[in-house]
Amino acid sequence: MDGSGVIDQRKQHGRAAAGGVTNGAADPARAGAMEIVGRSQAMLHLLQRIETVARSDARVFVAGESGTGKELVTRLLHAKSARREHPFVAVNCAAFPDALLEAELFGYERGAFSGAFVRREGRFQAAHKGTLFLDEVAELPLTAQAKLLRVLETGAFEPLGTNQSVQVDVRVISASHTSLKERVSQGLFREDLYYRLKVVQLEVPPLRTRRGDVPLLVEHFLRRFAPNGQIPRISARALASLESYSFPGNVRELEHAILQAVVLANGEEIDLRHLPREVAGSGSSHMRVEGTPRPLSDVMGEFERDYLIHALRLMGGRKAECARTLGISRKSLWQKLRKYAVGDAELNAAMSTPAKALA
Ligand SMILES: Nc1ncnc2c1ncn2[C@@H]1O[C@H](COP(=O)(O)OP(=O)(O)OP(=O)(O)O)[C@@H](O)[C@H]1O
Ligand SMILES: [Mg+2]
Repeated sequence: MDGSGVIDQRKQHGRAAAGGVTNGAADPARAGAMEIVGRSQAMLHLLQRIETVARSDARVFVAGESGTGKELVTRLLHAKSARREHPFVAVNCAAFPDALLEAELFGYERGAFSGAFVRREGRFQAAHKGTLFLDEVAELPLTAQAKLLRVLETGAFEPLGTNQSVQVDVRVISASHTSLKERVSQGLFREDLYYRLKVVQLEVPPLRTRRGDVPLLVEHFLRRFAPNGQIPRISARALASLESYSFPGNVRELEHAILQAVVLANGEEIDLRHLPREVAGSGSSHMRVEGTPRPLSDVMGEFERDYLIHALRLMGGRKAECARTLGISRKSLWQKLRKYAVGDAELNAAMSTPAKALA
């Protein structure tokens, strides 16, 4: 990681869409897509843990809401591990019907089931000496769970239609956007497997809890989607609305919003009208309540946190002056920053966005 909080994974593998499986094939079209951008306290902490965990061979479970960057984190773990010269194989457990998933993971012998015309190696074998990424692992059916448990315990399994054991050396990293623990309590996920998968757990924080990363991500995606290398400009109010939106779809939603804006702006400065309606919508993001409204104290806390960061940015980070302008004591400002865990890293990241952009 360099000082900018950006980790470059450019040399890492691209994504092959077919059948929910990714493999080691490089994909130049996604070059530049493999960077983890973030300078918020929470992301710096995560990046630090990745550095440490990657060096071990421990199994890792990556938790986090949809679109937060779990797959990126997994690829980085592989890229920084001793296994990096070996394959990185990803299987989306939710993308296969139950019966096919076992065939995909463990392979099969010719004639093992109707339609098995030729023998096929499974993903476990394909990942030998490398990393197998089990995405959406909560969706794994119970029969496949039993088989997976055995591989994790013994390193061995039998492809479908044989009783010949195959031995593999694979590091398993898994991820899920739903709570595995809840699946365990519902009797849908084996508890013994749960503990074996999450020897180490990494949590990718939702974007709304690290809004300081939004300007960095906006810049990152603008660069990535820049037509002919011309990075589009973005208006102050468009950037402000991106910063105040809650992004239920996390970084993926932000990525799509910027892509849409770049296309619609067609070389002009990006403005509110180029952003998706829900992002550009008027009023504070706290007003966009869906379902049951949240407790007022939570929402007030979020607003206060955002506003303090915004005010400090406008005041160039000068805390005493900021406290005076806000009509609170320095001590009170300091206490609030502590209460909301606003660290120096997040403030510095916020400071690197021009203050006028939010005015
Ligand atoms: N910190 C980040 N920096 C740069 N790009 C990011 C970051 N986090 C996520 N992305 C981008 O956002 C998109 C979604 O990330 P990813 O696929 O890793 O999320 P996910 O958590 O696996 O989502 P899902 O739960 O829906 O599978 C990807 O295109 C990824 O490149
Ligand atoms: Mg994913």
